[in-house]
Amino acid sequence: MKTLSYLEIREKFLKFMISKGHIEIPNSPLVPENDPTLLFVNAGMVPLVPFLLGEKHPSGTRLTNVQRCIRTIDIDEVGDDIHCTSFEMLGNWSLNDYFKKEALQWSVEFFINELGFDISNIYASVYEGDKNIGIDQCAIDTWKEIFKSYGIAAEVGAQERIQPLGDNKKHNWWELESGGPCGPCSEFFYDTGKPKCNPDCNTSCGCGKYTELGNNVFMEYLKKDGNYSKLDRHNIDFGGGLDRYAYISQNTESVFSTDIYLPILEKVKSISSNENTKSQRVIVDHIKAATWMIMDGITPGRTEQSYILRRLIRRSVRHARQLGITENLSDTVATVAIDQFSPIYPKLADEKQQIIDVIKEEESKFKATINDGMKKLDKFIQENNKISGEDAFYLYETYGFPIEITQEILEEKGLNKIDTEDFENAFNSHKEKSRSAAKGFFKGGLADTSEMSKKYHTATHMLNAALRKVLGDHVKQLGSNINPDRLRFDFPNDTKLTPEQVKQVEDIINEQINTGLEVYFEEMDKQKALELAPHSAFTEKYGEIVKVYFIGRGDKNISIEICGGPHVQNTKDLGSFKIVKQENVGAGVKRIKAVVG
Ligand code: ALA
Repeated sequence: MKTLSYLEIREKFLKFMISKGHIEIPNSPLVPENDPTLLFVNAGMVPLVPFLLGEKHPSGTRLTNVQRCIRTIDIDEVGDDIHCTSFEMLGNWSLNDYFKKEALQWSVEFFINELGFDISNIYASVYEGDKNIGIDQCAIDTWKEIFKSYGIAAEVGAQERIQPLGDNKKHNWWELESGGPCGPCSEFFYDTGKPKCNPDCNTSCGCGKYTELGNNVFMEYLKKDGNYSKLDRHNIDFGGGLDRYAYISQNTESVFSTDIYLPILEKVKSISSNENTKSQRVIVDHIKAATWMIMDGITPGRTEQSYILRRLIRRSVRHARQLGITENLSDTVATVAIDQFSPIYPKLADEKQQIIDVIKEEESKFKATINDGMKKLDKFIQENNKISGEDAFYLYETYGFPIEITQEILEEKGLNKIDTEDFENAFNSHKEKSRSAAKGFFKGGLADTSEMSKKYHTATHMLNAALRKVLGDHVKQLGSNINPDRLRFDFPNDTKLTPEQVKQVEDIINEQINTGLEVYFEEMDKQKALELAPHSAFTEKYGEIVKVYFIGRGDKNISIEICGGPHVQNTKDLGSFKIVKQENVGAGVKRIKAVVG
């Protein structure tokens, strides 16, 4: 395989798509123009929504570009080998023109003929169907033909070359959170050659064996008010991460060592006093993303996009402190990041000094308070062995610590998660805060009471109980964190679970889900609650009367925990439960990530 620079890959992609009749369209700014529900352009299709729904596009029915994107959902994942907050997405679209056959064929042709990737390392996933939509037989047949044309007899199955996945739209179905044009999709992956993390490991697993290269969405549906209807048109929405292609082509240890990021990473390394890979990658990613956001007119602040920018810069400052960096990131790292991307985005060069100044001002503000804030934080922990929601608000208000940063430091110290409800209450009751400011602020990722979060709250209690059953009474919740995509649970144990133990835990929980156990709470005084549920997490934060959540009544009871909720009403609502990842997070502490569906 020939090693290609990321600029070569970028250029080759556009040239290839143009040779297939596409017109290159401009790269849009990062803040969506017509969608107040979305903070950032997070995929190339975002600026194209009206055209995917039928509006005539002035450039025709075959479009292509490389779109800059921000994905805030990945902020916490940054530090591993492949996740980034900002990236460039290679895209091609058919607006009611060609469909599955051509789209899949061209994607593979590009990988194999243009980039020189080895077909024997390519795996594909397709939509397995659900109660309303059948399995994507057309995509399966097309993939079979494609593989056959390269001399590979592809089989269909969860561990095979073509993998039908779905789990009721959780996999291989693509839509924006706010709805709009959507549909089943077919992703393709590159087998990195790493061993499978367990015998069931396949393309849906996040362990790093399979790297997603691209995704063809077959946009034939519309999601509106939670309901799906068939569009009277068929569209293709293809997206692929340029950084992933460079990572495979250049065979580097992570995307940060590709020529996209290397000059920035080297700068960070040159000013670090120690080698902390995660901290170095966080700075590279966040400062680069910050330069793009400021180029697109965002400034650090308290709400929405501005809050995300503030969080990125302040988190970088904290990680710089851990690396012993004394220089300003604005003068050093931001400067290199701007130079690196100026050939693609000349506005970066045009506004170089203003961008540096914005970052400098924000980092100076935070540098002035971070030492005192860290001392105060340590004091809170010494006094109470935890950080309450009010403490976190105090750190935010007095020292400018975004709650996510406080949360991260707590997690590093192996403490329980902060009660974001208390934080929100403290925030809302603060007299200087306007309602709208608070609303925008929380859109940044806090105070989530969605249906999905309820499911994960309940699943967390069930996981705690099942682990105690399988591993023993020493298991307790040391930390937990939920987002709409997964739960994360930290607990004391010397070793990771064996594949047999993983299966035992999953079987226990799935059986409880299928049984359909009632989930309900009773209020009682704390003393009685502690007798009933001695292993509950976070008991210190509650008043004298507490809520106790039960899963299953009478002899069917499987869990009793002191907890504020909210939860689902019946375990059936969870659908199914699966452990997707295990990690070491400190001496004797293990972490599990799991999904429900
Ligand atoms: N819009 C699709 C994605 O982001 C291509 O995966």
